[in-house]
Amino acid sequence: ITTEDLVVNGIRFPAVAHDEESLRYVQHEFQVRDDDVFNVTYPKSGTTWMQEILTLINSKGDLSLYKSSPNWDRVPWVEQKTGRGNLESRPSPRLITSHLPVHMFPKSFFGSKAKLIYTVRNPKDACVSLFFYCQIAEFLKTTENFGDFYSLFMKGDVIYGSWFDHVSGWLSLKDQTNILLMSYEGMLQDPRGSIVKLCNFLGRDLDDVAIDTVVENTSFKNLKNNQMSNYTLVPNEFIDQRKGSFFRKGISGDWKNYFTVAQSEEFDKIFEEKMKNFNLKERFGWD
Ligand code: A3P
Repeated sequence: ITTEDLVVNGIRFPAVAHDEESLRYVQHEFQVRDDDVFNVTYPKSGTTWMQEILTLINSKGDLSLYKSSPNWDRVPWVEQKTGRGNLESRPSPRLITSHLPVHMFPKSFFGSKAKLIYTVRNPKDACVSLFFYCQIAEFLKTTENFGDFYSLFMKGDVIYGSWFDHVSGWLSLKDQTNILLMSYEGMLQDPRGSIVKLCNFLGRDLDDVAIDTVVENTSFKNLKNNQMSNYTLVPNEFIDQRKGSFFRKGISGDWKNYFTVAQSEEFDKIFEEKMKNFNLKERFGWD
């Protein structure tokens, strides 16, 4: 299969999943509904985890859909070329995923009452996670060593573009009342509190037992073992998990095992320059 990328607005998209027409359609024609809920992330920042949490909040802890249908069907990507008819014909309330940068997001979201959750992760960990994902995703270009991948990541020459641009674009909207900013690290530290916060934001009333069910069934261990979450239903030709697991480590701080001191220092300097308006390190305890 092809590892060719589609380049639109200077941003790389995997060509297996996207084409120019669907990206144009999503931005200009896709009709957002007021009761839509969006799960938006830069890749490898907790997308799948949030898909599963939203599925189970929506079902009030009922596990039947979570056990019978894969995550990409329950909370599909709006920008995928297969997304079009699929989402248009879906009953409300729809749960929708996206990796799009804010300037390519459906225009009809802005001004709607739809709710959007943007999840951020320490970019050093997202970079390491993406490096390993590229090793198993046969439709993505790989580099042999982490150092070469690090250079591409810093240039934004990776799928869905620069982390810095993606996050600063979305964070410029974070004070809008229909947007909730979450962090991967906050979810790791306090899964239950994070799920309660999401329920409050979404106006979903779950009792304690239902919340416990959501917490339990969205743990790293349980998602890794749920074939509807762990991507083992995808053929090896696309994602070859004989080379490594999609659910790889599920921790924070793994970057320390891969970044050199020089890379980390360079990263911190660029982070300081580009992200100075957002106070992310202090807020989320990133190192
Ligand atoms: P690692 O590669 O660091 O292990 P995405 O879903 O955006 O592609 O992100 C995948 C990353 O989220 C992987 O990170 C994966 O292990 C991690 N992840 C998924 N579910 C998780 C959970 N319940 N708890 C902690 N980490 C989780």
